[in-house]
Amino acid sequence: MKLEKAGNVGAFVREVDLRRIDAGVVSELREAFAEFEVLFFRDQHLSEDEHIALAEAFGEININRFFQAVDGYPQIAEVRKEPDQQANIGGGWHTDHSYDQVPALGSMLYAREVPIVGGDTLFASMSAAYEGLSAGLKETLAGLRAVHSSRHVFGAAAQREMGTQGRIGNAEAATQDALHPLIIRHPLSGRPCLYVNPAFTVCIEGWTPEESSALLGYLYQWSARPEHTYRLQWQPGTLAFWDNRATWHWAVNDYQGERRLMHRITLEGEALAGL
Ligand code: SIN
Repeated sequence: MKLEKAGNVGAFVREVDLRRIDAGVVSELREAFAEFEVLFFRDQHLSEDEHIALAEAFGEININRFFQAVDGYPQIAEVRKEPDQQANIGGGWHTDHSYDQVPALGSMLYAREVPIVGGDTLFASMSAAYEGLSAGLKETLAGLRAVHSSRHVFGAAAQREMGTQGRIGNAEAATQDALHPLIIRHPLSGRPCLYVNPAFTVCIEGWTPEESSALLGYLYQWSARPEHTYRLQWQPGTLAFWDNRATWHWAVNDYQGERRLMHRITLEGEALAGL
C-alpha cells in the first residue's frame, strides 16, 4: 500500500484492491484515515455486496433516513442526478449528520457513473482551518457550543425548494436537533477541529442570531479558503472515504444534462467531546 498526500486534505491510497483487504490493511487504513481525514482510491471494482463488506470492516453501517436506497440494498444510499434534473445532492459545504447528537463517523462514496467533465467533490480540512486561527480566537471558541438541525434542510418545505424530490424523502423524519462543542477533540487523531458547517449549524448556544451569523460567517469563509481544501475529480471506480468530524465536502453541480450516479455508505460514529 502506498500513500500520496492530496494537497491540503486527504491522500490517495495506491496498490490496494478494496475487495481483498485483511486485518493488517484495515489497520493501516485506519491510521491513514486518522492522519489524512479523507482517503481516495482509484480503479476499484466493487459490487454492492463488496462495498457493504468494505464498510463493515470499519464499523457499523448507518442507514440513512432521507436518501433513496439502492434497490435491494437499504445500507447503500443512492446519490444520483439524471440529465433532466437541475438540483444535485450535497451542492454546498456541509458535513453529514452533524444534526445527530451522535454524528456519523464518515462515508464511503463510490463512483459508478460520472460526467465526462465536472461533478467533482471539494473537501476541506477542519483541523487545518482550526490550526490557522489566532490564539485569541481559539480561546474564545473553546468554550462555545453550537446548535445543529436537520429541519431546515430535509423538512418538506426545504425538499420542495431544493428540487430533490424522489431522491431525498422522509421529510417527517427531519426532526433532529443537536448541540455540539464548536471545537471538538477528534476521536481518532486527537486534533482540535472546528465543528460547525454552513448547511446544518443553526446558531451558537446563547448568542443572538445576528451574533451567531457574524462569527459563523467568518469561520465559514475562513474554513473554505483554498489552502484548507482539495478538489477530487472522480472516475468510475473511484472511492472516497471521508471523516465527517474532520472535514466538510461540497458536490459541485456543473454538469447539467449529464448523469452522475454514486453509491454512499455511512458509518456510525460516537458522541463528540470538546477540548
Ligand atoms: C454527499 O454530500 O454526500 C454527496 C457528495 C458527492 O456526491 O460528491
